Amino acid sequence: MLTKLGTSGIEVSRVGLGLWPIAGMTTLEVSEQDSLLTIQQAFEGGINFFDTAYCYGTDGISERLLGLAVAACRDRVVIATKCGVHWDENLSRVNDASPARLQYEFDTSLQRLGTDFVDLLYLHSPDRKTPIEKSAQALLAIRESGKARAIGLSNATLEETCRFHAVCPLTAIQPRYNMLQREIEADLLPWAIEHGVAVVCYWPLMKGLLAGKMRRDFVFDPRDKRLSYPIFQPPLWDRAQDLLDELDAIAHELGLSIAQLVIAWTLAQPGITVALCGAKRPWQITETLAAQDVRLTSADLERIDKAIATCMPSLNAGS
Ligand SMILES: NC(=O)c1ccc[n+]([C@@H]2O[C@H](COP(=O)([O-])OP(=O)(O)OC[C@H]3O[C@@H](n4cnc5c(N)ncnc54)[C@H](OP(=O)(O)O)[C@@H]3O)[C@@H](O)[C@H]2O)c1
Repeated sequence: MLTKLGTSGIEVSRVGLGLWPIAGMTTLEVSEQDSLLTIQQAFEGGINFFDTAYCYGTDGISERLLGLAVAACRDRVVIATKCGVHWDENLSRVNDASPARLQYEFDTSLQRLGTDFVDLLYLHSPDRKTPIEKSAQALLAIRESGKARAIGLSNATLEETCRFHAVCPLTAIQPRYNMLQREIEADLLPWAIEHGVAVVCYWPLMKGLLAGKMRRDFVFDPRDKRLSYPIFQPPLWDRAQDLLDELDAIAHELGLSIAQLVIAWTLAQPGITVALCGAKRPWQITETLAAQDVRLTSADLERIDKAIATCMPSLNAGS
């Protein structure tokens, strides 16, 4: 079942496939063949919403593979990409949301994707040097050229979002959101509900932790960049494991996997339009996309919320 993306008229699946993992910049053992099969499997399983970005891979591999995978079904998929973030020669992240840079990245993205338009184009992040109104103006011009059907904004504060929206009306915002990182509930979520803007959240699985396969005794490959996130280190790691124990019991009773329970909970939160689930293997997205059809009762949701409040009282695991 599809849902509306803000007021744009675009319809999307409630689970979107996030294509950061296939860039292979933070995840290990990524292959082009698995990546293409993952995209294909997602589409065949009912996902029509694919999320990539100019900076997903130093050479744009994520956009290229997406373009290749959906070439034969372009009119049946919703492609979202982002501009405004790139890597310098030392592989350090650079936020550059100046109009000229945004135009350059967008033109490059179209070439890599092998398409002459995208459905949704986000400003990946405000850059603190460029007034956000200027970035908004640049994206508005792209939308008016017909090469982007709708515009979105990611990683912005409420104040930045309001300023952007005043210049270039937003169809969607893309903040992080999951059971452990719920800060948008205080400001961005109510704002989005009030303004009819879709909320496409990233990290619903907290980079795989909430998929429930990495348990207490999990041994990380030292090259796994997730180790640098506070939630993957003690003491938060141990508290997250306590939460996973609780979720495991609830999921078991409902005949779901932990990942499915977590995504169903995410989609049940007021104002959340889409959960962007990253995957690099077909089985991963097959598992998580099934959560689109799960309806949790209010009693189920209360049990889950109680477990979160007990195990993770601070509700913000850091980034
Ligand atoms: N706008 C932004 O700034 C921004 C930032 C971050 C992400 N995003 C978008 O949001 C998407 C989601 O974020 P994400 O990919 O970083 O993280 P995520 O969706 O929270 O987690 C993805 C990881 O979870 C694991 N996983 C997925 N399904 C699983 C399953 N069924 N069972 C076990 N493990 C599973 C995989 O890890 P393994 O590697 O262990 O297989 C996968 O790489 C991204 O792909 C991207 O499109 C946007």
